Amino acid sequence: MLSRVKVSFARVTADDREAVLSILRGAPELSHVDINATFDRWLREGYFIKAVDSDNRIVGVLHARQLEDAVWMEGIGVSSDIRRKGVGRQLAAYVMELTGGKVFRVMASERNVPSNALALSLGFKEVDRVYFSDGARVTAPELARRLGLDEAKDVSLEGPGYVDSWTWRPIEYYRGRVFSNGQVKVLDTDPPFFVAGDADGYMRFSRQRAAYSEAFIVYELRRA
Ligand SMILES: CC(C)(COP(=O)(O)OP(=O)(O)OC[C@H]1O[C@@H](n2cnc3c(N)ncnc32)[C@H](O)[C@@H]1OP(=O)(O)O)[C@@H](O)C(=O)NCCC(=O)NCCS
Repeated sequence: MLSRVKVSFARVTADDREAVLSILRGAPELSHVDINATFDRWLREGYFIKAVDSDNRIVGVLHARQLEDAVWMEGIGVSSDIRRKGVGRQLAAYVMELTGGKVFRVMASERNVPSNALALSLGFKEVDRVYFSDGARVTAPELARRLGLDEAKDVSLEGPGYVDSWTWRPIEYYRGRVFSNGQVKVLDTDPPFFVAGDADGYMRFSRQRAAYSEAFIVYELRRA
């Protein structure tokens, strides 16, 4: 049995940028975003929490924010030299208490074994699976123009949820435009989200797996 590490928690400050980014670099969930801009946004909103060891060294970090119906948790990271010693679990438990939330969600790349294992060990259950593909970066309206899709009104949207700016939400919260030709349905998200159909070559999220796409698993935990 590996020894557990005792840590305390505090809010991340602007001075923590380098220490925090060095922990988060390499997480597959953050490889497609501007990590510096993300750090700045996380400083401004939600709960940006660090775990600090007895030498006052930052050994873990996690950001959480309240969405419409759930607390969204993102950017968990623990220093590579002290992984598997309970820091990630303690950090998640602390932040969940701090938010006072009842429903929590998190998204992990299928290939991120520790991140999936941590979610499952905390009692999270899979609620959705979406597929990210890299490619040409175009907005949803531009993609719609290229694919010959029109803006559609009162169109039904399949699936439990969608992703916008790397955040998953239940589909009933979608308020933006939908572009469709009947078969293909694309949401005006960043990157565009294909509720139905797909189009190779573009950076996008889709409901269906494509060649070279990366699966992201969405987990949820409900507390009484
Ligand atoms: C994911 C991460 C934060 C886990 O932090 P950690 O401090 O090592 O996790 P813990 O020690 O608290 O582990 C808690 C439980 O999660 C599971 N777990 C964590 N890492 C695991 C691994 N590598 N393999 C299998 N299970 C694992 C285990 O069930 C573990 O409990 P146990 O050790 O009693 O068996 C860490 O691996 C990390 O920083 N990864 C890189 C950054 C990243 O990918 N972040 C995710 C998305 S932004």
